[in-house]
Amino acid sequence: METYHITVINADGTEEQLEIPVGWQVMEALRDYGYPVKAECGGACCCATCHVYVDPAWLSRIPQMSDDEEAMLDSALALQDNSRLSCQLVMRADLDGLRLTVAPNGV
Ligand code: FES
Repeated sequence: METYHITVINADGTEEQLEIPVGWQVMEALRDYGYPVKAECGGACCCATCHVYVDPAWLSRIPQMSDDEEAMLDSALALQDNSRLSCQLVMRADLDGLRLTVAPNGV
């Protein structure tokens, strides 16, 4: 199975590279690697508990958010300009190397 990588920047400044199969939601990988992402709705864009902060350098390179994602993010705590729902980021070649931080309300 083809895989790509993203980098998670932790609160203490350390970084971890995650290997993610093509077609997986970034949320699924974060959860599998043990990050505190509840993903209560299972990736259906209905909970905002998979909230992440995307490295600003990547914001113009990732798919634009849908109206549903934007509406759901409005309910997220600690919202920032670079907030996204990780279940709405589906791994593909142009996301290889994506850098992000898990938002505190993902806990
Ligand atoms: S898992 Fe619920 S919005 Fe992403």
